[in-house]
Amino acid sequence: MVDNPNLETNWQDPLQPPILANNQVHVWRANLDLPTAEINQLATLLSTDEIARANKFRFPEHKRRFIATRGILRQLLGNYLQISAKILKFEYSDRGKPRLAASISDSSLEFNVSHSQEYALYGFTHHNQIGVDLEYLRDMKDAAKIAERFFSPRESQLIASLNSEQQQRIFFKLWTAKEAYLKAIGTGLTGSLDGVDISLDQAGYPSLLAINGNITAAASWSMHHCIPAINYVASVAIKTNIIKQQMNFWNWDQDLSIAQN
Ligand SMILES: CC(C)(COP(=O)(O)OP(=O)(O)OC[C@H]1O[C@@H](n2cnc3c(N)ncnc32)[C@H](O)[C@@H]1OP(=O)(O)O)[C@@H](O)C(=O)NCCC(=O)NCCS
Repeated sequence: MVDNPNLETNWQDPLQPPILANNQVHVWRANLDLPTAEINQLATLLSTDEIARANKFRFPEHKRRFIATRGILRQLLGNYLQISAKILKFEYSDRGKPRLAASISDSSLEFNVSHSQEYALYGFTHHNQIGVDLEYLRDMKDAAKIAERFFSPRESQLIASLNSEQQQRIFFKLWTAKEAYLKAIGTGLTGSLDGVDISLDQAGYPSLLAINGNITAAASWSMHHCIPAINYVASVAIKTNIIKQQMNFWNWDQDLSIAQN
């Protein structure tokens, strides 16, 4: 059975850029394979270092997707902060996690981005660490082997007990939840995947069970699962006990850019 993105998640088309309340989390999905005119328009929002990065891609498709991912991120941040997307500046942690430069804004806005093939997913919230991971469901014939090596013993036993079609879906569900947490804390994959123990409830919904064996530490995190498109799976990790109803899932559209862009 193919997971249906529109049945699992209520993706909304905002009529205007939405306001992010303090107790909300906004998740945006965007298709990156945009017409050339839109890519060119988004490229005008990028800084010189981002353009230099874009120019290093060997394949034009990868360059276009990088421009789209960054340009859309700038548009969304510009909308939330009510400032020009062009003048936004990023700083990077020692592991490469982007954040808003202090010189640009003293905003409490936190964000994270993930992209895979032709989609990008963005998460925004106030005050709390947030991490997002999106994966394209590719063939994973060795899912059980990888899980045995990198997942917790409990997770790898779960994967081993499934048939190959279920293995792929559950593998990526667990993987994205782990990576979303590791991206929220900023270590990325330099952090330990097997120390992030994910459990799935009866409906297959993931939550953070333990961090390096610590159940109390895990309880201050919330994990959300979504399907941005057919054959994609994603997770969003937030350091908060925020409940599901406070999540909003939005479709990005070029028309959402505000006048100051
Ligand atoms: C972060 C990381 C997990 C991304 O993995 P991925 O599945 O290929 O990529 P995703 O699409 O999920 O995420 C990429 C985005 O996450 C963000 N990001 C980059 N580093 C990050 C980090 N350490 N933590 C959280 N987010 C990060 C960026 O916005 C990046 O987008 P960009 O490539 O357009 O700049 C992986 O690159 C990693 O483990 N990095 C840390 C390792 C390290 O030490 N790198 C040194 C470079 S400074």
